[in-house]
Amino acid sequence: MAPLIVDALKRLEYRGYDSAGVATIEHGALARRRAEGKLVNLENRLKNEPLDGTIGIGHTRWATHGVPNETNAHPHFSGDVAVVHNGIIENFAELRDELAADGYKFTSQTDTEVVAHLVARELKRGAAPVDAAHAAVKRLQGAFALAIMFRNDEDLVVGARNGPPLAVGHGDGEMFLGSDAIALAPFTNSITYLEDGDWAVVRHGGVSIFDIDGQPVERRRQQSMGAAYLVDKGNHRHFMEKEIHEQPEVISHTLAHYLDFANGTARDLDLPFDFNAIDRLAISACGTAYLAGLVGKYWFERYARLPVDIDIASEFRYREMPLSARDAALFISQSGETADTLASLRYCRKAGMSIGAVVNVRESTIARESDVVLPTLAGPEIGVASTKAFTCQLSVLASLAVRAAADRGKVSAEEEKALVRALSETPRYTNQVLQKVEHQIEKLARELSHYKHVLYLGRDTNFPLAMEGALKLKEISYIHAEGYAAGELKHGPIALIDEKMPVVVIAPHDRIFEKTVSNMQEVAARGGRIILITDAKGAANATVETMETIVLPDVPEIISPIVYAVPIQLLAYYTAVFMGTDVDQPRNLAKSVTVE
Ligand code: F6R
Repeated sequence: MAPLIVDALKRLEYRGYDSAGVATIEHGALARRRAEGKLVNLENRLKNEPLDGTIGIGHTRWATHGVPNETNAHPHFSGDVAVVHNGIIENFAELRDELAADGYKFTSQTDTEVVAHLVARELKRGAAPVDAAHAAVKRLQGAFALAIMFRNDEDLVVGARNGPPLAVGHGDGEMFLGSDAIALAPFTNSITYLEDGDWAVVRHGGVSIFDIDGQPVERRRQQSMGAAYLVDKGNHRHFMEKEIHEQPEVISHTLAHYLDFANGTARDLDLPFDFNAIDRLAISACGTAYLAGLVGKYWFERYARLPVDIDIASEFRYREMPLSARDAALFISQSGETADTLASLRYCRKAGMSIGAVVNVRESTIARESDVVLPTLAGPEIGVASTKAFTCQLSVLASLAVRAAADRGKVSAEEEKALVRALSETPRYTNQVLQKVEHQIEKLARELSHYKHVLYLGRDTNFPLAMEGALKLKEISYIHAEGYAAGELKHGPIALIDEKMPVVVIAPHDRIFEKTVSNMQEVAARGGRIILITDAKGAANATVETMETIVLPDVPEIISPIVYAVPIQLLAYYTAVFMGTDVDQPRNLAKSVTVE
C-alpha cells in the first residue's frame, strides 16, 4: 500500500515538497513513516522500514503552520485517528486551547493536529467514526481538504472539502481519495470531484457523498484525462528547461485553438458575454498569471479600446471595488486552483458578472466554476517557475484581444487579418530565439550569478515583462531582483544603481524606444551595467555601452511580449543552474497555492 501512496504523492509534489508522510493500518494498529525534505527521503525511509496494510493515507507538505520537520509532517495521529490536511484551519488557536484544556497533548506546531484531536474526542464521547468526523469538520473554519482514517475500521476513509480540491477515484473493489485526478491517475481515471462543503464516506465498495448539512448528494462521475499526464524530463536536465523548449509547439497549439489562420480571423468563442456590450473587463490573477493579465490589459485597451481593471487576486477579493453585473471578469490561472483567484471569481459571481477562465488544468475548480473555459494548451507544467503556461496565457489573451477588437468594430477585416498573421508567426520566432540566443544567455548567466541584486526595466508591455523577469530570477536563483517601468527609474530605484547592480533592459525598437534609451543613459551615467534585450535596430540605436546586448529577431509589436519572454526565462534558468539551486522545486514555493 505505502509504495502506491508514494507513487501518487510523486504526482502531487507540485503542491509542496518540504516534508512528507504515509500512514497505514498495520496489523490493527496505526503506523506511519514521515520524513523531512523531498519525497525521496520518505521513499528511502520506507525502503528500510516498510509499512504493511491495505488502507492508507499520505501527504506531501507545504508548510503553513510550523516549520518543515518530521514532527510537523502529516499524517497526524490522535488515539485511533489519523489525518492528512491541505489548507489552513483559521480557528485552530481557539480549538487548540479548548482541546488542551480537555487534556489533549499537542506534539506538533501544525493547525492540522486539532483535527485529529477533535475527531478523537468525538470518538471518545461515543460517536461512530463517520459521525465523529462529521462533527469535527463542522467545528472547522478556514480552508481544508481532509482525509481521515480510523484504526478500528479498515474499510473507511472520510474526506471533507472546503476550499482546496478533493477528488474521489472509483476502482474495482477499491476506492481512492486524492487532491486531484493526476494523483489518482496510476489507479483510475474515473473521478468524482467533491464540491465545497461536501464530505465523503469512502469504503472499498464505493462512496457516499453528503453536503454540509449531512444530506446525501449526487456528484457527477467523469472520465479524467489524468492518465495522459505522464511526466518525464526527456533529455533535459530540468523540467523548466524542457518546458522553455516546448514553447514554440504549445504556443502554436494554443493559438490554433483561438485563431483561424486560413481566414485570418479570431474564432468565435461562444462567450457568455458580448465584447461589444460590456464597458469594462476585470482581470484578476496571482504571480506570473497576473503579469500575463497585465500584458493583456495593454492589448485589450490598445486594439479593442476596451478598458481593463487588473488586480492581484489577493487584493481584488478584499478591496470592495464597485462591480457591475453588465461587465465580464476574466481569471487567469495555470493550476486553476489558486485560492485567491478562486475567491475573486466567486466574488464576481456574487456580483452577477459573466466569468471567463484562462486555465491550463481543464478539470480544475476555477475551470468548473466559470461560465466559459478558455484553455491554454501548454500541457502539464511541472517546474514551479511558470514558463510555457505564461506564454500560452499571453497567446490566449492576445487572441481574445483581437476577437474583442473585431467585435467592437475597432479593427477592419484587413487589420484583423494582419494581427492574426502576426500572431501566427509567434512559434517560428520563439523557436528562432531559442536557437539563436540560448548559448549567449548561458554564458551571460554565469556572470550574472555572481551578483546579489538585479534590476529589470521595460516600458509598455515590456514593463510587465520586466516584472516577470525579476520574479523568475528571484524565485529560482534567490538573487534579489526588481522589475520597474523604465520611466519610474528616476522616481526612486535610480538610487540603487551602481556597478554592483546589473540592469536588464527589455526594449525592442518600438515607438517608445527612444524614451527607454534615455533611461539607459541615466543608468550608464551612474556606473550601472546594462544587459540590453532588443532587436537589430535597437542594438544599432542604443547609443550606450552595455555589459551584453542580446539581439532578437525583429518581430511584430503584438507578439513581442511572447517572444521576449523567452530570453528572460533562459536568463533566470541558467543563472539558477550556475547557482546550483533546486531549479524545479525552489525553496519555500509550491506549484499550486491553495491557501490564502
Ligand atoms: C511564478 C509562478 C507563480 C504562479 C502563481 C499563480 O513562476 O509560477 O507566481 O504564477 O502562483 O499560479 P496559478 O497560475 O496556478 O494560479
